[in-house]
Amino acid sequence: MSGFIAALLWVSLLVFVGFTGAKIRQYWKTPAPLKIPTTPAPVTQTGVVFRMAREVVLFESLFKSNKWIWVFGWMFHLGLLLAFFRHLRYVVSPENFMWPVISNVIVQSFGQYAGFAMVIGLLGLLARRFLVERIRYISSPSDYLMLVMLIVIGVSGLMMSFVTHIDVVQLKMFVMGLFGFDFQSLPESIALIVHLLLVVVLMLIFPFSKLLHAPGVFFSPTRNQVDNPREKRHLAPWAAEKYNDHVDK
Ligand code: HEM
Repeated sequence: MSGFIAALLWVSLLVFVGFTGAKIRQYWKTPAPLKIPTTPAPVTQTGVVFRMAREVVLFESLFKSNKWIWVFGWMFHLGLLLAFFRHLRYVVSPENFMWPVISNVIVQSFGQYAGFAMVIGLLGLLARRFLVERIRYISSPSDYLMLVMLIVIGVSGLMMSFVTHIDVVQLKMFVMGLFGFDFQSLPESIALIVHLLLVVVLMLIFPFSKLLHAPGVFFSPTRNQVDNPREKRHLAPWAAEKYNDHVDK
């Protein structure tokens, strides 16, 4: 079982990195032919950086449009971020200068409860899909399944943290072994197997699903453009080439 899960983790990691990288490259190369920042928009590049930071950290535009989705969405993502930092202890060694922060601040203190924030946020987002008629109408099976998948990842993680407990030292050896192709056995735990198999599914579907909004937000022209169409003529690179050819002739 350990070898099988190790292989699955490797394959899914390669799919995740390779295809997400390809998607980001595609986003990077796709021209934005029109000047379409949502106004009021920043008139300088620095302003755009601040706008993007507010969007990514605080979910500003979601806050303006819907407070319920904002509360649950923000809770989930904040919980996810903290859970991510908590998981770093499986790959960071105690000699690393980051260790005191990861171990004392995040793992031992409030980070323990991040999983609850994550799951409560996800349950709120799932309830919205069932309870709000307008949203139920536009929801497809994948919308529900992705939420359920994340909830089960969170709940199985919380089970390990607070109910069944697992040998985290053995798990760390398994994870470190993965990177050195020195496969070790996993601690015995049903919750861990469920957790890891769903993480495999998560990595496999990430590059082909709406979960891509994570890197995608940075490429959104309504958010990343400077509002200066009168000061500077906007031409997408491919349009600029055609335009220059035309002018030269
Ligand atoms: C290969 C990758 C992963 C491994 C080896 C792993 C392992 C674990 C383990 C052992 C725990 C229990 C921690 C404890 O006993 O204190 C845990 C908890 C948790 N995991 Fe994971 N996990 C992985 C990926 C993920 C991912 C991708 C997510 C989110 C999408 C996630 C979300 C959680 C949550 C919410 C908890 C409960 C809260 C906490 O203890 O931080 N895990 N994970």
